[in-house]
Amino acid sequence: MLRLMLVHPRASYRAVPMPPNPEKYTRTAMLIHWLMAALVLTLIGLGWYMVELPQGPGRSYYFALHKSLGLSVFALLVLRIAWRFAHRPPALPASVPWWQRGMAHVVHLGFYALLLVQPLSGYLSSSFSGYKTRWFGIPLPHWGWRDAPLNELFTEIHVISSIALVVLITTHLLGVLSHVCAGQWTLVRRMWPW
Ligand code: HEM
Repeated sequence: MLRLMLVHPRASYRAVPMPPNPEKYTRTAMLIHWLMAALVLTLIGLGWYMVELPQGPGRSYYFALHKSLGLSVFALLVLRIAWRFAHRPPALPASVPWWQRGMAHVVHLGFYALLLVQPLSGYLSSSFSGYKTRWFGIPLPHWGWRDAPLNELFTEIHVISSIALVVLITTHLLGVLSHVCAGQWTLVRRMWPW
């Protein structure tokens, strides 16, 4: 009490900052996570749908939309990596066994790797298609050229990594489901705002 009276009222605000909830990710991390999740699922559905379309304006429209959303995922990934360097993720509860910790770690690393390879391979495949790549209508610097073998190579990488991404998403969801079934809600709520 005496100490509180002695410090300047403003200083007391600074001296007692609100501690972050150590059991949860920050709001920023949650926003990036859920935005990326929604975009990646949309991109996978859109990718599978658009490659089956016949040549024409419909196909071009969906390809352009796919590229714009995919490049947005790349921008979000850069933000996510920056967040990760500046923050420590909340610790897992002590009840989580070592092998689940290890698996979660591998899956998270896999996500970072694939979410880097996926938009990059798409962008490179697009750069060697002979067409300008645009982000929601804004032309990006066009440094590539029309090169069928390079275009095919990066398309192949793009398709293979999209399959690996689906496998990883399924593993991640099964992990979440197993925690929900075991009643470990605190673990799942770390990425849930409420
Ligand atoms: C995380 C981001 C992305 C995801 C999850 C994603 C996913 C996919 C999927 C699932 C396909 C269909 C593959 C198939 O089965 O044939 C596809 C195709 C394609 N994507 Fe992406 N993509 C992403 C980013 C991008 C970016 C940034 C670009 C270009 C700027 C791009 C360009 C393309 C192109 C050109 C195709 C058609 C390939 C072909 O001709 O077969 N993608 N994408």
